[in-house]
Amino acid sequence: MQQKIIILDFGSQTTQLIGRRIRELDTFCEILPYNKFPFGDPSVIGVILSGSPYSVYDKEAFKVDLSAIRGKYPILGICYGAQYMSHIYGGKVEPAGLREYGRANLNFIDKSNLLFQGFEDNSQVWMSHGDTITAIPDGFKVIASTQKVKYAAYQAQSNEPLWGVQFHPEVFHSIQGTLLLKNFVVNICGSKQDWSPANFIDQTISQIRNEVKEDHVILGLSGGVDSSVCAVLLNKAIGKNLTCIFVDHGMLRKNEFSDVLNDYKCLGINVIGVDASEKFFQDLTGISDPEQKRKIIGRDFVEVFNAEAKKITNAKWLAQGTIYPDRIESLNITGKVIKSHHNVGGLPKEMNLNLCEPLKWLFKDEVRRVGRQLGMPEHLITRHPFPGPGLAVRILGDITRDKVRILQDADDIYIKSLREYKVKLTGEEARNVLAAGVPSTMNNGEVEVSLYDQIWQAGAILLSTVRSVGVMGDERTYEHPVALRAVTSRDAMTADWAHLPYDFMAKVSNDIINKVKGVNRVCYDISSKPPATIEWE
Ligand code: XMP
Repeated sequence: MQQKIIILDFGSQTTQLIGRRIRELDTFCEILPYNKFPFGDPSVIGVILSGSPYSVYDKEAFKVDLSAIRGKYPILGICYGAQYMSHIYGGKVEPAGLREYGRANLNFIDKSNLLFQGFEDNSQVWMSHGDTITAIPDGFKVIASTQKVKYAAYQAQSNEPLWGVQFHPEVFHSIQGTLLLKNFVVNICGSKQDWSPANFIDQTISQIRNEVKEDHVILGLSGGVDSSVCAVLLNKAIGKNLTCIFVDHGMLRKNEFSDVLNDYKCLGINVIGVDASEKFFQDLTGISDPEQKRKIIGRDFVEVFNAEAKKITNAKWLAQGTIYPDRIESLNITGKVIKSHHNVGGLPKEMNLNLCEPLKWLFKDEVRRVGRQLGMPEHLITRHPFPGPGLAVRILGDITRDKVRILQDADDIYIKSLREYKVKLTGEEARNVLAAGVPSTMNNGEVEVSLYDQIWQAGAILLSTVRSVGVMGDERTYEHPVALRAVTSRDAMTADWAHLPYDFMAKVSNDIINKVKGVNRVCYDISSKPPATIEWE
């Protein structure tokens, strides 16, 4: 049985990060809404309570009865989780005056505490809270303080396995945060650390075979990492009983349709390519509202896919490359929709198919590790994410074939240049790249990696609603600018604009303006998410 840690989500921005950190410790974990504890599940070995945007005194604050959990499993409360336990067990939580935000250092009162084994004095942690604990419950003991926070970490009485920490061990700035989580998950909860890509593949293949048996499965391919890994995994499990459908809506990248089809064929996957671009272009004529574009593309896609899928008369299952963050985001308890872009729940009901989602428990970096373990080519694994509606959400205003062609050419120059440009890294940066399995070459302790592989996602945007004057030779031009976007991120929930080297930007700008007719200006997008989003529409 696969052991698991349960993370009860009280709505913090960093809950997913806690999950990722636990998985990095080769331990499976599940993130569940704060009030959905899986009572009776024998595989649970420990519980983490996340932070929250609320104060324990807010009317809307998420509250839960912990009596059936306390004493049964080790518990670790993080931030709000720590404050909440302190509050309900008789301590005191009060507004901190000024929000306590940023780096702080731990002073230990009990350095031998199990949760802090291996910690250094003054270990740096990251604080982010508006309330603070001003008294811990009777009998609880304080383990560490910081200059401003008296109860930075506490444990319940008589060494009961219940801890609270007001800092965030999951964030990078808590230097020994991973050690704390390891102490909890491995030493305290007893994780066997057997969650690995190889185990995942073995278990998932046997689950797929048990579930699907001799039935036929259809899978919609997008060319992206998730659906590609899903296809290879299913192919390994059921071979010829899998048929993949790859729809070209006309707004893919340059040559992407043929390149990707070729890749899949080389991998021995049974795939049908459908060129439906005419239908999409027709239905998008004159449409410039971003949400309307998305809706039309979504609707047309389902129509084309269904028509193709119906031809496979013996199909009983529809497979999707849904991954774990898609599902957690769709459970988002604050419930605000910024863009209608998630494919979760996209199963066409009238098709009467069962849903098969073999990657539904994986984070993106785990999908890539599984892909490598399956022996897939690196260029498929390291491919940047690309939005379902493709270049349609990277062309401002209405869509025409001409605009798509201009953008494809500019984007192609940009992406190829990112792949060609190599960066040399040393020290911490080099170690991080190696640990993440990014394709790189090593020379005298230096690691060389392409700019493309250092970036989460990049693309060009055609500002076709804007025109500006330029001069080419002796000619006046009056054409469109192209914006370049490149971001670093771990999960697309937040993103920073990438600091691309100036010589790289100079060359790309030059190449695009000289080679792409219709573009006379190149800009670089220096907005982070939030408040911007990654895509422009
Ligand atoms: P935003 O623009 O919301 O994007 O910061 C976050 C991530 O999602 C991708 N994205 C999409 N993916 N259909 C998709 O399948 C869509 O409509 C869509 N819109 C955005 C985006 O590329 C980024 O990786």
